[in-house]
Amino acid sequence: MPPSANKKPRHSDASASRPALLLEWYDRHRRRLPWRPLAGERAEPYRVWLSEIMLQQTGVKTVGPYFEKFIARWPDVEAMGRASLDDVLRMWAGLGYYSRARNLHACAVAVLRDHGGAFPDTEESLRTLPGIGPYTAAAIAAIAFDRHTMPVDGNIERVVSRLYVVEEPLPQAKPLIQQLAATLLRPLRAGDNESRAGDSAQALMDLGSSICTPKKPACALCPLNEDCLSRARGDQESFPRKAPKKAGELRRGAAFVVTRGAELLVRTRPEKGLLGGMTEVPSSEWLAAQDDKTALTQAPALKRVARWQRKAGIVTHVFTHFPLELVVYTADVPARSAAPNGMRWVPVATLKDEALPNVMRKVIAHGLGL
Ligand code: ADE
Repeated sequence: MPPSANKKPRHSDASASRPALLLEWYDRHRRRLPWRPLAGERAEPYRVWLSEIMLQQTGVKTVGPYFEKFIARWPDVEAMGRASLDDVLRMWAGLGYYSRARNLHACAVAVLRDHGGAFPDTEESLRTLPGIGPYTAAAIAAIAFDRHTMPVDGNIERVVSRLYVVEEPLPQAKPLIQQLAATLLRPLRAGDNESRAGDSAQALMDLGSSICTPKKPACALCPLNEDCLSRARGDQESFPRKAPKKAGELRRGAAFVVTRGAELLVRTRPEKGLLGGMTEVPSSEWLAAQDDKTALTQAPALKRVARWQRKAGIVTHVFTHFPLELVVYTADVPARSAAPNGMRWVPVATLKDEALPNVMRKVIAHGLGL
């Protein structure tokens, strides 16, 4: 009799075969991704590390071209370790959350300086490197070094919480999900010369992104469907349970787009903190209780601005922790006007070479009417 949703799931026997079912499915359906080697080949630690750091930031589609661009420019960790931080930040521009790019560079430098240019091959030592937390260490250890460990990302959390109907909400449920996810690894047996932990992990990632999707999961196609507790109950979409999230409070500010002919006034943000070291046009503080008048008092001290023009409309941007609304003021100053302390003029034509975060691209486009 074929399995059906009404049939009582075979938890005990099916759960033992899950790791094998998962690997069989992966062997047939694994996605081709730029950082993945062909089936059966071992992945390069550098490519795994780079892709994992990028994938923490955004999806597979966006990462693809960035990954290729980075690999073309810096084909190995040694090359990146010798690059300047500025160059790495520039190449990262558009991916957001620049502390990741700083850590990326710091990590490459550390691998070169402290590990002779080869990534260490244990989870523990990987975790000592800049920007490598528990997830990334486990992902590199499993995928590049075949260590018997399961990295758990958002996709895997969803798959596992559905399979086992984890009622505890995230983030508290993380340790439990981690334990349950590890049961999906093929057990280590004496004589096995390969754990395939990296494939098991990537199988769950692929399953989570193509079948066990947040909405309308395609359970009929899932290799683990017979033994999925939430599918048996029909409440798959309600997992993972999540504690209600507090939205970051809206912040406001003013940005100042000042031109001197074909040049734009910019400055570099402080090294530490949000968008650290990136280029920006001067702006007021970004505060929840910011009003336009106070914001305007924080305009750059340019002697020869007769009047600030307030551009109609606002620029909005959503950072991880808060949404931002900026009003934009413009001014054009005469040739040879000096840049205020800590600021500089750059030709508008070479702005593309600056490490400009997305929010600033929007501000400049708005201010210049592009
Ligand atoms: N998301 C994070 N790491 C991934 C990987 N190695 N493959 C697919 N999706 C991922």
